[in-house]
Amino acid sequence: MGIEAATARLACFMTTTMIIVGSVRPGRIGLPIAQWVRDRTEAAGHEVDFVDLAELALPFMDEPAHPSKRQYTQPHTIAWSERVDAADAVVLVSPEYNHSYSPALKNAIDFLAQEWQGKPFGVVSYGGASGGLRAAAALDQVMTTLGMVRVPVDVAINGAGGLVADGTFAADSKHVATLDRMLAELSRYDEVLRPLR
Ligand SMILES: Cc1cc2nc3c(=O)[nH]c(=O)nc-3n(C[C@H](O)[C@H](O)[C@H](O)COP(=O)(O)O)c2cc1C
Repeated sequence: MGIEAATARLACFMTTTMIIVGSVRPGRIGLPIAQWVRDRTEAAGHEVDFVDLAELALPFMDEPAHPSKRQYTQPHTIAWSERVDAADAVVLVSPEYNHSYSPALKNAIDFLAQEWQGKPFGVVSYGGASGGLRAAAALDQVMTTLGMVRVPVDVAINGAGGLVADGTFAADSKHVATLDRMLAELSRYDEVLRPLR
């Protein structure tokens, strides 16, 4: 395909990307980091659904049937299901807690099953020296089990606590370039995976 045809095709292709804030703690640095991800995602031309798990306030999983049956009984599950169904791609903004990710994030993921399937995802992880990479690895295992496809770009933010001041995350040029590559890959994978969903 020529450049003009490819550009025209991309121009009419819009990815709706769900950004999930994986920390719900008061004083969390995850919120400003996720806001930075949101702003860049919008700038990259994606439609954004910004999900702050603290606002979503799901209880501990309270459905009697396995989520794969989609026999939901609770209004909060039905609303969450519809929201994830509407997304084409997902970015998980994840802290690292004890070498894994947060219980709030696991709970939100476990509520659903088919809704995640066949969608690309990327992880923006953060922490101390590790940049939250162990949390990202733990997420890979769970999300791929649910039928999601991880794009081959990770954003891992080292020493993240020192990069947030007055509620703003100060990204460096490497963070920006890596996130932009991840977003481009999410769109590319969305286009390929969409017919499978
Ligand atoms: C329960 C708990 C466990 C933590 N475990 C890790 C860890 O394993 N690796 C790491 O790099 N940082 C760890 N930290 C430090 C976090 O990276 C840091 O507190 C960060 O601000 C957490 O993200 P949040 O503020 O968005 O919740 C831990 C923090 C908490 C509260």
